[in-house]
Order: sequence, then structure tokens, then C-alpha cells
Amino acid sequence: MKFQGQCAVEEKLEFHASAIAGTEEVLCDELRELGLPSVRFNRGGIPFRGSWQDGWRACLQSRIAQRIHVLLARFPAPSPAMLYTGVQSVAWARHLTPKQTFSVNAICRGSQLTHEGATALKVKDAIVDQLRATQGLRPNVSEDPDVRVFLYLGNDKAALYLDMSGEPLHKRGYRRETGEAPLRETLAAALLRMAGWDRKTRLLDPLCGSGTIAIEAALWAANVAPGLTRERFGFERWASFGDAEAQALREMKGQLRGARAGQTPRIIAADSDATVLAKAQLNARAAGVKLAFREQSVLDLQGDDQPALIVTNPPYGVRLETEPLFPRKVMAAFCRLHGWRVALLAGAPAYAQEMSPRPRLRVELLNGDLPCEFLLYDIP
Ligand SMILES: C[S@@+](CC[C@H](N)C(=O)[O-])C[C@H]1O[C@@H](n2cnc3c(N)ncnc32)[C@H](O)[C@@H]1O
Repeated sequence: MKFQGQCAVEEKLEFHASAIAGTEEVLCDELRELGLPSVRFNRGGIPFRGSWQDGWRACLQSRIAQRIHVLLARFPAPSPAMLYTGVQSVAWARHLTPKQTFSVNAICRGSQLTHEGATALKVKDAIVDQLRATQGLRPNVSEDPDVRVFLYLGNDKAALYLDMSGEPLHKRGYRRETGEAPLRETLAAALLRMAGWDRKTRLLDPLCGSGTIAIEAALWAANVAPGLTRERFGFERWASFGDAEAQALREMKGQLRGARAGQTPRIIAADSDATVLAKAQLNARAAGVKLAFREQSVLDLQGDDQPALIVTNPPYGVRLETEPLFPRKVMAAFCRLHGWRVALLAGAPAYAQEMSPRPRLRVELLNGDLPCEFLLYDIP
């Protein structure tokens, strides 16, 4: 693998798209649909291969990936010395000049090196020593680094990556204000795909908070690449990202902007709290999407003859206070919506217990650190 300018080399690189636990299947579907090469299903994150431009495209277009990493090297690392040698096998000057800053994160699983902090420090030393020896100067570490290095050490085998995303990809840049317990944008996008939304059916989030689910739905329906609202990605700060790369990235963004769809379905964002609803309106404006807003309690929802899909994230008493009977009342309200489909991210078993039809799909996933479940119902 050669790493010169990112445009110059068209060799197959190996990428890894990380996912929120439980969303790997929909991430895999999404990356395949985007036409990225050699996408493989893997629990814990989805690998694919391709050119640098494929990596950029994944950063710009994936709605579900948390981060995109590109592989630099694999080597055995059962000891600190072998880890050091393996890290020094990479020509770091291609990615990092001594004037830039960097950071190292490490995850160790089933390996002799167990201390993630000490392992990351060893990687850092190997990088710094190489650059000092070849260039006479060393780069500094920073909390807002130009280059993020990531080491995964599993069963004494190291995989060393650069993080192309920089800030995690859920930080789209449109969310100016949040209510309490906002959902990550990547998780909201995953819920929409898990719900099987066809991007044509009317969609409602009756407990919308800062509007994340409805905004992600509107961006998807309009075929707007989620990365277009980001200021920049990590790879734009690397030593290998020059004028030719900047021009190629501008062209790629121009093509994506041109792919915006004209017609979109009605997407409704409702919440009983007017202050929160005002935040959702602000966020939708920042994202450049049009939603219908309603100040309404979910308990007053009425069905109609038109089919609709609800995708929502009701409060569940861990991050937000709710009265004990709230899940029962919400599920009773949903049961009145004959012929509708309801998808919810529930943080408490109370929601599933209160619904008599069994969910057609039930998936365990993590919302931040909170174990949750995704429930999908077709209301008879
Ligand atoms: C977990 S938050 C939703 C977070 C949202 N998904 C986001 O990304 O910001 C739950 C929301 O339910 C709203 N809520 C609570 N009781 C409600 C009710 N009876 N009807 C409608 N909304 C309600 C709260 O105001 C809060 O915004």
C-alpha cells in the first residue's frame, strides 16, 4: 500500500466503518447501496475496500457510520517492543509533519497488552521517535488533533488505522439547539432504515425533541448527503491532503449537491413542549429541510385512512423523568392507529410489555451507554 497524495494513488485501501452496537446490519446495507466496493458484514463495524475517494464518499454519504478508518498496517504485537517496531514500519511523514498535532487511541481485546493508555503511549512514542530521527523535530499531541491514530489490538494482532472522520460523523453541524436526551444523528438514521421506511410514506415523530429523527428523514428523502453540512473532515487536515485533493473533494461535493431530490413526503415533528419544538424548528432550518411542526401530546394522536409511519424515541425515566404509567398510555395511543407502522427506540421494557401484538422486529442496541431496544409494530 502506498500513501502519497490522496488523489495520486488508486490502489485498494482497506477501510473500516464503525457503527453503534446493534446498527451494523443497516450500516452494511447502506454502504452496499452507496456502491462502495467489497463491503462485508461484520459485527462491531463494517469493512470495505477501495480508493481514497471511496473513503471520502463514505464520510460524506453514510448516514449511519460513526467513523471511517483507513488501515495503515497489520502486525503481531504480543509485547511493547513488537508494537513499537510495527508502528515504526509505517512512513509517518506521509501523514504527519512535525508542525502538526496528533492523538492516539487504543482498544485492547484478548491480548497480552491490556492497558489501553500505556499501549496508546507506546504507539505515540514510536511515531514521535521516527519523525524526530528523520526530520529533527517532533509533532505534539493535542485534544483537537490534525491526525487521529487508532490502534485495535485483538488477540495480540494489531491493526493500525488513521481516522478519516475527525469529529465523529454524527456531528453533522446542523443541530444548533437540543432538548434533553437528544439522539445521535447516526442512530436516528439507523432507526429509519430499521423501520423499513421507503422515503415516500408520510412520517411522524410525535415525541420529536430537537427533531433529530424528522430532520434525518427529510435529508434522506431529499437525497442530501449528510456530510455536506459539516465544516470539514479529519482527512482534510492530513499532510497528504493538498490542493489537488481539495479540488477533487469540492467536485465530489458539487456532484452530491446536484443529486438533491425535488419531491419529498410529508414529515411531521410533534412534541408537547413548545420550547423544545422551537429548537427543532431552528435545527431544521439549519439543516435546510422543511418539516411540518405540531405542538401536541402523543396521547392525543388520532389515526386516519392514509398510511403513515411513526419513528420515535419516547422518554424512559433514565435521562428524562416520566410518570410510571406513561409507557402504557403511549402504547395505547399507538394501538388506535389502525394500519399504521410504529417504530420506537425504547429504553425501558415497559414499552414492549404494554403492547399486546408482538413486535415484528426487536433489536437490542446502545443509545450512548444506555442499553435500549428497537421495536417495530404493524398496528392491525
Ligand atoms: C427522549 S426525548 C426525544 C429526543 C429526540 N429524539 C431528540 O433527538 O432530541 C422525548 C421527548 O418527548 C417529549 N414528550 C414528553 N411527553 C410528551 C407527550 N405527552 N407528548 C408529546 N411529547 C412528549 C419531551 O418533551 C421530549 O422532547
